[in-house]
Order: sequence, then structure tokens, then C-alpha cells
Amino acid sequence: MMAAWDTRLERIDRETPNAEAIADAAKWLRQGELVAFPTETVYGLGADGLNPKACQRIFEAKGRPADNPLILHISAVDQVKPLVRALNADHERLMNALWPGPLTLIFERSRIVPDVVTAGGSTVAIRLPGDEIARALITAAGTPIAAPSANLSGRPSPTTAQAVAEDMNGRIPMILDGGACGIGIESTVVDLTAEAPLILRPGFYTLTKLREYLPAIRMDRGLVDTSATPRSPGQKYRHYAPKAEMRVFVGSIEAIDSAVADAMAALRQMHGKAARIGLLLFDENRAPQGDAVLIREGSITALEDMAHRLFSALREFDRLGVTHILAAGVADDSALGQSIMNRMRKSASGNVDMLS
Ligand code: TXA
Ligand code: MG
Repeated sequence: MMAAWDTRLERIDRETPNAEAIADAAKWLRQGELVAFPTETVYGLGADGLNPKACQRIFEAKGRPADNPLILHISAVDQVKPLVRALNADHERLMNALWPGPLTLIFERSRIVPDVVTAGGSTVAIRLPGDEIARALITAAGTPIAAPSANLSGRPSPTTAQAVAEDMNGRIPMILDGGACGIGIESTVVDLTAEAPLILRPGFYTLTKLREYLPAIRMDRGLVDTSATPRSPGQKYRHYAPKAEMRVFVGSIEAIDSAVADAMAALRQMHGKAARIGLLLFDENRAPQGDAVLIREGSITALEDMAHRLFSALREFDRLGVTHILAAGVADDSALGQSIMNRMRKSASGNVDMLS
């Protein structure tokens, strides 16, 4: 049975970080308990990454399938060595260029990494986060921190401490509140243990960006072709799902405006007042008439805003009791488009209309 905690939420000011709160959080981690903490991507649900019992608690608190491995978070590059069998030249290149940052690398694991972290596999995922609070916590804990996103399994990842609290209140002793995450979608996961470097999960770092360092890198087939077996277990689960039924429209602003208007009319006809419609639209989109809940995802020319707002918008729709979400998506070949659409497609269970 999981202990019922009186979860403590502790605000950490980035200018003058509260060392005592970070020390308390580190103490919980060393005792084998869970602490949620901010990173530059999304909030993590941390456990001592070398303590199998502690890592097991992550799966219980999230309701996470046991075959989905965890990322180990470190606070300095020299902490990689003991966790891996070997570093290759590609690892070195990406670590030097892009760490600390929103990039997770897959290595052959060493013996000290518990099976529960790797889901019994021979590889381990490692990330050196850019967020200073995250690094301070890892350093204070004196151990790598295993951390998935701090949401209940299947729900949108949390990008604020309040979103973490929605899912984790009573399940963990402490949440460190570092404000809203800067990026808002999870790290790019890159596998360097296969014959060719592969992107297993697109994120802030896109294929184009990573090709500057590793020209041979490509997207895993599991991301492109839905019938291929994914190399990353996380790809196969229902993910980022709001409670509402969601549809995504990709096309010009005008095409999206008219598709949204048509879809709203159809929903009204089918469900009448019972449909509570949520709209997630670009600044450039028309605001439709009626009582729909409208959230702006930013300008179509500023996809960082869209990445930043996506998960919090989905959670806001849940809070407001929205039953149907109509969202404007982007083309995969735009900057960040692939990463954002990877999340949106899953949120909408593949319900994406490409408007011509
Ligand atoms: O930005 C992030 O990566 C956030 C923050 C907290 O760091 N963490 C995160 O963790 O998104 P999680 O558990 O929600 O997603 C980890 C992904 C999953 O898709 C998992 O299957 C994959 O990484 N993964 C972990 N270890 C792996 C391994 N050894 N081989 C292949 N994929 C792995
Ligand atoms: Mg996750």
C-alpha cells in the first residue's frame, strides 16, 4: 500500500534558492521516498536512481506499466561513467554540445543500474538537465535521480507544480515548485547503441538540429510508421490524454477556421448543450461565436509558445469539464512541428485531419 502523504509544496525562488527546502527534498530521496521537481522540459517524479525499492515506488505512484524504463538524471558529466559500460564518440559529441539540456541519451548500462530503472533491458537512459533547481537537487541527493514526468500514467505531463499536485497530492511527501517549465514538452530521446543513431522521441531538439552534430541520425521507424515495433517502450502507451475527445486540424489558418466552425456545428447538432467545447487555436485563428472555451496556443510563427502551452491547456480543459477539444496543429516539417505533433497525435488518439 502507498502511504497517504500530506504533500508539502515548497516554492523555490530561482534568484535566491531555498537551500533548506532542497536539502529536505534530497533527504526524502535518500530515504527512498519520492519528490517532484522542476526541469526545463516538464516536472519530474524523482527517486534515488540506484535504490530499486525507491524506483519501484515511482511505478506505484504513477500507475506506470513496469516495462517502461526510467531516465536517470545527473548533475555533472562525470557522473555518467559509473552508470554505463562505454561511451562512444557520438555520445561524447552530443554530451559536449548539448548538455546540460533537454536531451536524453541511451547507453549500454553498467551493473550498478537497477533492473527496475531499465525495465530489465541492457540499456539505460541518462539526462543532464539544464534546470538549476534540478541539478541542485541531484547534487544534494548525491545520487542519480530516476524520474519520469510527474503525471499519473496516461495524463498530460505537468508543466507547473500545481499540475503535479493535481496528480500527486497525497502520493508523495514533497513537491519543489520552480514555476512554469520553460520548454513544456519532454526531452528528445536519442539512442546511440544501435547501428545508426536514432531519435526515439522528438523533443525540443529536432532532427534538423541533431543532424548538425550527427549527420547520420534519423527518426526511429516506430515514430514514422505506426505498424513498426517501437524501440522505446514509452511510444506504445496511450499518452498525454485529456479527458475530452480531441481532434486536431492541420492546414492554413483559413482552412483551420472553417474546419473548426464545421466541427463545432456538428458537435452542437449531435450533442446540443451537453457538448462543452474547448478550442486550442493560434492567435491568427478567428475566435468562433458561442460559448466554447478558447485557449490561445500563441502565434503560428512562434511554435515555442505552442510547445510551452500545450500540456497546461489540456489540463485546463479537464478542469473546466470540456468534453470535446478542437485544436489547431502544425505541419511536421516546421521547426518543433514534429515534436509538438508527436504529442498532439497521442493526445488526440491519432485523430488528426490534414486539411488541404
Ligand atoms: O524531459 C524529460 O525527459 C522528462 C523530465 C522529467 O526529465 N522525463 C520524461 O520521462 O519524459 P518519461 O519517463 O515520461 O519518458 C521517458 C521516455 C519513455 O518514452 C521511455 O520509454 C524512454 O524514455 N526510455 C527510457 N529508458 C529507455 C531505454 N533504456 N531505451 C529506450 N527508451 C527509453
Ligand atoms: Mg511521461
